[in-house]
Amino acid sequence: MNFVASIDGAVTSGGASGALSSETDKHLFGLLRELADVIVVGAGTIRTENYGGAVITREAQRRRAAAGQSSHPPIAVVTARADLDPDSRLFAETTAAPLIVTTANAPTAAKATLRAAGGDVIEAEPGSSDGVDGDSLMAALQRRGLRRILCEGGPRLFGHLLAANLVDDLCLSIAPVLTAGTAGRIAVSDAAGSANAAQQRKMRLAHTLSGDDGTVFTRWVRDPAVG
Ligand SMILES: NC(=O)c1ccc[n+]([C@@H]2O[C@H](COP(=O)([O-])OP(=O)(O)OC[C@H]3O[C@@H](n4cnc5c(N)ncnc54)[C@H](OP(=O)(O)O)[C@@H]3O)[C@@H](O)[C@H]2O)c1
Repeated sequence: MNFVASIDGAVTSGGASGALSSETDKHLFGLLRELADVIVVGAGTIRTENYGGAVITREAQRRRAAAGQSSHPPIAVVTARADLDPDSRLFAETTAAPLIVTTANAPTAAKATLRAAGGDVIEAEPGSSDGVDGDSLMAALQRRGLRRILCEGGPRLFGHLLAANLVDDLCLSIAPVLTAGTAGRIAVSDAAGSANAAQQRKMRLAHTLSGDDGTVFTRWVRDPAVG
């Protein structure tokens, strides 16, 4: 999982994450993409941030080929409704065809539209809240040989994967700004009160780095002592 947040925990500034991301954060964001077999993103983030496909330099493409990876990691969109714009950058500006991971419950016409736009539509098992079941999402990606799974959020998808205990590793950039306001945090779910204690995952700090611009990069991994 990779996120950027302000010092006071805001996941957006002005409605999107771009204003929080420095040049060094963008560099790290790109490096993580170069390592990934697939980039998993919730449909809310795809719509808000107007996602296109990953751009990978020729040098990184050579490194990927040497490692047995495809030249470009596809974007895998997780969506219950399959309501994406077929004319958007996701389909129009990409080298790898996007994967659309949804369920049999999504409208058939919407899925047909996304297939016609070039999307590879995958029907995974529905989870308890009519979304995609997390284990079924992972299994669908692994069946396609996609094992290095980078997730770029957003917060609701992160909350869902966290509740399913599927997050091993979090790269969190802390931007050197305070924002206040009403912006959300990096992981959210519907569970409230005592349910959050049950969902609590203990993580271990694996790395910290700081950029010249004051951005602090942290990498947290699942604490093996608590699984
Ligand atoms: N700071 C950062 O690093 C960062 C990173 C990412 C996003 N963001 C920001 O976060 C905001 C979006 O937040 P969000 O929580 O709405 O984002 P999100 O998790 O990307 O989007 C939520 C949507 O994703 C789909 N979804 C999520 N989990 C699903 C599941 N298990 N099964 C099926 N569909 C699932 C659903 O789409 P459908 O409605 O299509 O069914 C849901 O409505 C944006 O403002 C974005 O800029 C910030």
